[in-house]
Amino acid sequence: MSVNKEVKRVTTHVLQAMKSKGEPISMLTGYDFSMARIIDDAGVDVILVGDSASNVMAGHETTLPITLDQMIYHASSVVRGVKRALVVVDLPFGSYQGNSRKALESAIRIMKESGAHAVKLEGGIEIQESIVRILSAGVPVMGHLGLTPQSIYKFGTYTVRAKEEEEAEKLKADAKLLEELGCFSIVIEKVPAKLTKEVAESLTIPIIGIGGGKHADGQVLVTHDMLGITKDFQPRFLRTYAELYDNIKAAAQNYIQDVKSRDFPNEKEQY
Ligand code: KIV
Repeated sequence: MSVNKEVKRVTTHVLQAMKSKGEPISMLTGYDFSMARIIDDAGVDVILVGDSASNVMAGHETTLPITLDQMIYHASSVVRGVKRALVVVDLPFGSYQGNSRKALESAIRIMKESGAHAVKLEGGIEIQESIVRILSAGVPVMGHLGLTPQSIYKFGTYTVRAKEEEEAEKLKADAKLLEELGCFSIVIEKVPAKLTKEVAESLTIPIIGIGGGKHADGQVLVTHDMLGITKDFQPRFLRTYAELYDNIKAAAQNYIQDVKSRDFPNEKEQY
């Protein structure tokens, strides 16, 4: 008898059902085939091809320089490694703001050329037209509110957002609007836990937090941060699950030593 090994894919409807059942959603970033394959095999629900690739893959200080072509390259590599997770791709800075036609073209390029399942855009009412146009083409949209790194030069710092009443009210109104427009989920980044709780309880779509506390419907972390690869980035909200910077460095040092001492390769490791 053959065993049915077919994997049930995570869809936006599955995420909605998870929220309804109170089952937390796990999301991690992915930028390449090998890592995506590992975290998908581990059972993560959503893989975000984040524009944080600009930081952790390309070494830029901000997320602003990464291009649409580069995002598509990362996204298509991730898609090839994934069997189960929903793959969401960030629209990069400059590919959707202020021009909804361009936004739709960018989203379509991502979907067509990478095979991903949804896109993510940063912002609320300011990008309403872009969201509506993308949704009207049948492309699922995830929102992103709170600390939105593409606006870092407007904020000036990466500190906690929406601590003041006025900004918290705007965030709540934006979240409601995104739900009404038809977004399937919203990432809320680095805001007080109390605000995340209020938003998650008042909306029916899943709220995924990063630095937003325990009351979100799900959590996302940058994979390189939680694996301890980005050694110098240690915000309060980050929990590290491995120390890969140190592990990889030690492995590289052992290899170098073996090569220098002519220990590698040995008799069994040659033809
Ligand atoms: O680009 C990214 O990695 C993100 C997460 C921080 C949510 O947007």
